Amino acid sequence: MENYGHGVVWQVKFLVDKEIRGKRGMVMVETMMKRVNLYELISSLTIACDLVSPRLGNHHLQVAYLAYHLGKEMNLAPEKLKAVMLAGLMHDLGALSYEERHELIENEPPHAHDHAYRGAHLIEQLPGFVEVAEIVRHHHVRWDYGRGSEFLGKEVHPLSHLLHLADRTVVQINKNKEVLGQAKRIVANVERQRNTIFVPEYLDVLHTVSAKESLWFDLVNPQLQQIIPQVVVFDTLDLNSDDMITITKIFAKVIDFRSSFTATHSAGVAHTAEKLAELIGFSKEERKMMLIAGYVHDLGKLAIKNDILEKKGNLNENEYNFIRSHTYYTYRLLQPIKAFGQINLWASTHHEKLNGNGYPFKLKDEEISLGSRIMTVADIFTAITEDRPYRNGMTYEEATAVLRQEVANGAICPYVVDVLMHHYDEITFIRKTAQQAFRTDYNQFLQYPGGLSRQQIYNFAKINGGKN
Ligand SMILES: [Fe+2]
Ligand SMILES: [Fe+2]
Ligand SMILES: [Fe+2]
Ligand SMILES: [Fe+2]
Repeated sequence: MENYGHGVVWQVKFLVDKEIRGKRGMVMVETMMKRVNLYELISSLTIACDLVSPRLGNHHLQVAYLAYHLGKEMNLAPEKLKAVMLAGLMHDLGALSYEERHELIENEPPHAHDHAYRGAHLIEQLPGFVEVAEIVRHHHVRWDYGRGSEFLGKEVHPLSHLLHLADRTVVQINKNKEVLGQAKRIVANVERQRNTIFVPEYLDVLHTVSAKESLWFDLVNPQLQQIIPQVVVFDTLDLNSDDMITITKIFAKVIDFRSSFTATHSAGVAHTAEKLAELIGFSKEERKMMLIAGYVHDLGKLAIKNDILEKKGNLNENEYNFIRSHTYYTYRLLQPIKAFGQINLWASTHHEKLNGNGYPFKLKDEEISLGSRIMTVADIFTAITEDRPYRNGMTYEEATAVLRQEVANGAICPYVVDVLMHHYDEITFIRKTAQQAFRTDYNQFLQYPGGLSRQQIYNFAKINGGKN
């Protein structure tokens, strides 16, 4: 088990030191590493989604792992195997709340198609992920003696049915009990739904792979995240910084769209931070890294329940403790992405304060790099000036008073705040433009793409078997 205490602080300080020792006396960043491992990147997002409740366990990893073994047993072509594995890793991204995720573990209501369509809508925006999105879109369609090869007049990707079987198999594992004793019952349960819900050929394959004890032990192993890359060879993609921006922008949507309260927050922070970095003299590449860091800065909020995030009144101590964990999780979730060392540092230290009163690493003064100071100011500025469903954003006078008070408290960087003040209108325009674009995407996200109404899908799902 890793040391989550002083080790973390040491690593953060080490990175800060490396950054501060650069020439120009301010920020010096190593050239961004270009090789980014696809599994490292995608799993950081989906593990974040599963952290919200222990009941979810490693759900995305489990589904991906079982889907991979089913596909491997069927001798799927490598590209198809990769697509179904990625679909498993991302299949429930469209589920918005903790309650929705729980319900999907417990049963499969007609509105299960909601999150599948929403998830596919996000995933298809990733370059090269069209097939993965197609597999996700219909992962709750029943086979229904072959009628499930279409859904509402659209062809269903055959691997959607494979993903469906993997999903409904692993949700039956009771994490509090020994796993092998459950295996027979679980396989018998899905077997009873041969032809009605599941494709017979896929069930035959499940019988073969589920005979291996090792599969079940792996599925419940808390180290499944580390086991997967040892079993599955994943591409190390050569991504340039523009590709990284495209991908992390989708991450930002998954983070923000969970709640109408935060629906555009990360976009505002990212673009504000990027502009501040430009005004302060960061290079073009560094500015892109700042934009990426802004998109993922609140990744750890996926681990926090909506009722705490959306609470209007003051948080009690217990709730505030949960909030304080979010930058810790951002740090830990991004840490396995080797190319993200600098980006992670800027992203996960945005609640540290120069006077040492921030969280979670208790950094202070020169331990907090210029890039981190920019992110902190961008975060506060966006949070207080953006409109939320229950209140309008602050006016110029109100916002500047808050920022100046924070400077007076010795909490945030006077230099960065000064730059913001001198370019207030320009930065406000950039923030608002970025947030309006996210708002449009958010409204679309809540609709069904492809011209289908929610009612059409519900009606069809009911005719096609209704509740399981
Ligand atoms: Fe699902
Ligand atoms: Fe699922
Ligand atoms: Fe935050
Ligand atoms: Fe934030």
